[in-house]
This record gives sequence, structure tokens and C-alpha cells, in this order.
Amino acid sequence: MLPRIRLNRRLVLLLGALLLILFAAACSKGAQSTFDPKGPVARDQNDLFLLIFWLAVGVFILVEGLLVYSIIRFRRKKGDDTLPKQVHGNSKLEVFWTLIPLAIVVVIAIPTYTTIADQHSPPDGESVKVEVVGHQWWWEFRYPELGIATANELNVPTGKVIKIDMLSGDVVHSFWIPKLAGATDVFPNRLTQMWFIADDVGTYYGQCKELCGVEHALMRMRVVARTPTDFDTWAASQKSPPPAPAPGSLAAQGQQVFATHGCLLCHTTSGPEAPGTQEGREKGYESGQSVFPGPNLTYFATRDSFAGSVRDRTEDNLREWLTDPDAVKPGNHMAQLAPAYQNPDLKLSKQDIDALIAYLMSRTPAPSQ
Ligand code: CUA
Repeated sequence: MLPRIRLNRRLVLLLGALLLILFAAACSKGAQSTFDPKGPVARDQNDLFLLIFWLAVGVFILVEGLLVYSIIRFRRKKGDDTLPKQVHGNSKLEVFWTLIPLAIVVVIAIPTYTTIADQHSPPDGESVKVEVVGHQWWWEFRYPELGIATANELNVPTGKVIKIDMLSGDVVHSFWIPKLAGATDVFPNRLTQMWFIADDVGTYYGQCKELCGVEHALMRMRVVARTPTDFDTWAASQKSPPPAPAPGSLAAQGQQVFATHGCLLCHTTSGPEAPGTQEGREKGYESGQSVFPGPNLTYFATRDSFAGSVRDRTEDNLREWLTDPDAVKPGNHMAQLAPAYQNPDLKLSKQDIDALIAYLMSRTPAPSQ
């Protein structure tokens, strides 16, 4: 008798642990939790998932319960050689256990179809158009109607439809902000589209969801949702060029370093539509060809993060990044290709880096009068 009690206790413990895990997973409210949707697209997807999930839990409990019950209840006893009653060919039973799965599949199929149809094209209403370009390993965001180009942080107004056209500048990436919408793949030669609405003001975290090279795990992004008024203020600020650094200031030295150490080959600090890099990006975007731009740094100091959104924009983090980019993001293109890290004559000194930090931190629009 004793061994059976021990077995049951273990079984109870195991089931308890499983339920706890389920419970914990269902309650997760992490920064990138799909169980904490903050917009209609993510909410509908989550509802659909939960419907299928709980149906599956029901089926699991029913089937496994019957199985475990039968194993225990109908265990062959010593000396009992009678065969169990055979039910093979019982048409009542067979129709019954064909109809149940059919009903479950129909219950899953109808909301699945309506959700896919609903989300296929964006709803009517006020919208903001965004072009997303995936790069190894950062995200470029362009607002064709507003003439804005920025990186890694997608600013959007709450309550409006954000319509996104996506292309990649190199390999396949995948755009995913779990609290706002499911992932959509981003290809170098095929336009993909998605849309979402952010209900509330806040910062929503996301990351590339398609293995895209050595830095894939560090290709992150944020959506910064603002009130429509606040968004308009932000958009206007991204068009008035930052003031030139005061002559003789550390920031002015930084501007010199920026210009003389090859930073301009990939980055620009002279406006969202500055020629050169931006033109190359535009062409690359249109033709789907590989381009090698770096993030537009014109309004660098209006962002909260940098380096593919893996570091907060602080002076210490910038110093660490500029001193040894490879230590922050191993394998990144700046460390591999930039003259400042490849040409010993252009190596950045400690003073150069301090000046660059002062310059980059000054890249913010002049306060409006
Ligand atoms: Cu881009 Cu993974």
C-alpha cells in the first residue's frame, strides 16, 4: 500500500508544479510580454491565443485524466486473466469521438479566420505612415509624410493607426513589439506591411525576431507612444536643425572629430534629409539593394537609447561604446569597418571621445521660443 501513496504524492506535486508554471506564465507582465497587450492588434492576437490555449488545456486534462484514471482503476489484478470488453467497431463511439475534435477545430477556425481578415488591412481613421528599414543590426524609421528619419526608437501618437511598410537593407529581419502586435518579417527584396495602434502613452520594447547574424540578439527597438499633441511637438522638433556648437566648445571639437575620423561615411548629423548617406539609404530602400548606412545622428540627443537600443543614452555608456564598440556589441559593423577603428592614424584618443560625446549629446533641436 505504501508505494502507491508515495507515487500519488509525487503525482500531485508534479501536477501542482505544472499548474504553477501555467499560472505564472499567464500572469507574466514583463517588458516584452504578449500577455500584456497595449493595443487592439496585440489584444485580438492574445485573445485568440488564449482561446486555443485553454481549449488545449481542457483537452489535455480530459484525455490525460481519463488515461491516468483508466491506468489506476483498471490495472490488471493478480490472478485476473479476463480480457477487457472490446469496443472496436463501435460506430456510436467512433462518430462521437470524431465529432468532438471537429467541433473544437470549428471553434478555433472561425475566430482565427475573422482575426486574420480583420488584421489584414488597417482600419479607416487617422493614421501615420512609417517606413521601417531593417539593418544589421539596428532599425531605421522614416516618416515619408513628415520628412523625418530616425533610428531604433519609433515615436508614434496614441490612438492613431500606425501603417508600416517594411524592407531590409541586407538580410531577413523581423519586426516585433510584443505588446503592440505580432512579428512581421522584413525582407531585402519584398515589401511587407503591418499596422498597429498604441492605446496608452508609454515605451514599448521589442526586438528583431529573425536570426540575422552575430548581433541578432542585440538588435532591439522601442516604440515611444505619445499623446497626439506631444507627438506633433516631437515631429516638429525633428525638423528644426540642431544649433551649431559654440565655437571653441568641447562639442565644436567633437564636430571636428566627427568630420575628420570618417564618421560621416555612414552617419549624418546634418538633418533628416541630408544628402549623401540619406540619399544612399533612399536609393537602397527603393531598389531593395544592400546599402551600408549607420543611424542618422542629427537628433541623437532626443533618443533615450543607442547602439541598436541596447544601451541607454548616458555619457558613460557612450564612452564605453566609442572606446571599444566590439565589447558592447561583438561583431558590429562599426568596429569592423569604420576608419576610426581600423586605421591606426584615425584612432580615437580619450580627448577625441570626450569631444565626440559632448557633440553627440548636443544634437538636440534648439528650444522653441
Ligand atoms: Cu535582425 Cu535578427
